[in-house]
Amino acid sequence: MPISILAVLVAIFVSFSCCQNDSEASSCTSFHVGNKSEVASQYHHHNNISAFWNDLLKPRFALGPAYPINYEANTSDFSPIFDSLIRKNITSAFDERWPLEFLPTLNALISSANAAPITNASLASNLYLRNGYAHLIVEIPGTGASPALPRDPASPDRVWTSVLDWIATQPSLDSRKVVFWGVSTGGYYGMRVSPTRIAIASSAPSGNGGWSHCTLTGKKWMHIADAGEYPTSLSTNFCVKIPGTTLEARRTRFLDDLPRLKSRFSLVDSGVLEEADSAPLLLVNWIEDTIFQVEDSMVLLEFGRLKSARFVRGAHHPGEPAATPVIFRWTENLMASVSQCLCMVC
Ligand SMILES: *[C@@H]1O[C@H](CO)[C@@H](O)[C@H](O)[C@H]1NC(C)=O
Ligand SMILES: *[C@@H]1O[C@H](CO)[C@@H](O)[C@H](O)[C@H]1NC(C)=O
Ligand SMILES: *[C@@H]1O[C@H](CO)[C@@H](O)[C@H](O)[C@H]1NC(C)=O
Ligand SMILES: *[C@@H]1O[C@H](CO)[C@@H](O)[C@H](O)[C@H]1NC(C)=O
Ligand SMILES: *[C@@H]1O[C@H](CO)[C@@H](O)[C@H](O)[C@H]1NC(C)=O
Ligand SMILES: *[C@@H]1O[C@H](CO)[C@@H](O)[C@H](O)[C@H]1NC(C)=O
Repeated sequence: MPISILAVLVAIFVSFSCCQNDSEASSCTSFHVGNKSEVASQYHHHNNISAFWNDLLKPRFALGPAYPINYEANTSDFSPIFDSLIRKNITSAFDERWPLEFLPTLNALISSANAAPITNASLASNLYLRNGYAHLIVEIPGTGASPALPRDPASPDRVWTSVLDWIATQPSLDSRKVVFWGVSTGGYYGMRVSPTRIAIASSAPSGNGGWSHCTLTGKKWMHIADAGEYPTSLSTNFCVKIPGTTLEARRTRFLDDLPRLKSRFSLVDSGVLEEADSAPLLLVNWIEDTIFQVEDSMVLLEFGRLKSARFVRGAHHPGEPAATPVIFRWTENLMASVSQCLCMVC
């Protein structure tokens, strides 16, 4: 019996694609989370390394762990690193001394990984396999080991085509049952897959978070997000893909470029949401999310085919730990109906 596939896109960084409309969606003018000073009053970890470790990261480990800690992270690997960062008062992740503090732990982990027997059984794999899914983790196109031209809009779509083609060649996988689960910026790419890939796979994408439209509407959101939950400055991370001499010059250029980026990247302006055959889409967003505001999910409900949405309270970006059970439940219902839909197409 072939098993279903869950492709998980995990990422914080973005890569750029393109298009032409510059329409303003009405819902992007003010944000549920409030203005910059209201958001800043809740988060104290910016430029304070002690607050970053003690108030933001450490409690997330205790949660199970939660963003930005991944499932396989071990708090005892991080403690000595942050003790040292705090002792040396290295407050910014963009400080060149910052990555050096991670090297001893990184090298020790590589050595113990090389010495350990090879196994398929990661914690995350077991979690999904228990639920009957194989899973592929795919980095955001244009980052890490995921090749894509940062400024080519069709580039991520070609990445998904090659992933889907590969899935189709695997006898142990059921390529009629593919779900794209986009996390954070991955949500944007999950949403791009929804309208464009139905002809290739009977896919059922779900996205949480993303920068589908409102995030790109002017500098206002970026200034709010820079003071919010994101571990560092969100706009400084986004701007790394923009050419420029210094980080600050790139950041300025990125912020000035937002209208142009919006016309190319916005799912609303590009018209991708209007594709008639788009696959079922579930949007999950934390209502108080200060990285990708809930408005960025809400605006999508104004366009294209009907979508499912769940906005959760009492969570963290990107809606966890409430989001995963919602997404699994929705996926199970959808999988149960997929074969029937395919018969109708046949
Ligand atoms: C741009 O958006 C406006 C308003 O939604 C719409 O009337 C127009 O057709 C769109 N243009 C393109 C090229 O999609
Ligand atoms: C932010 O919002 C609060 C509450 O509505 C308001 O008192 C404050 O003046 C606003 N600050 C700015 C800079 O707009
Ligand atoms: C930095 O954060 C720590 C821990 O929350 C806090 O005790 C300290 O007062 C903060 N320092 C500054 C300068 O805000
Ligand atoms: C975390 O790391 C410590 C120290 O290396 C180790 O003793 C412990 O077993 C690890 N915990 C997990 C869950 O892997
Ligand atoms: C730590 O560094 C920050 C800026 O990077 C500075 O404002 C602060 O005074 C420093 N604290 C100490 C104790 O040196
Ligand atoms: C990993 O999984 C594959 C496919 O199920 C299996 O063929 C292979 O033997 C496994 N490798 C290990 C080391 O368990």
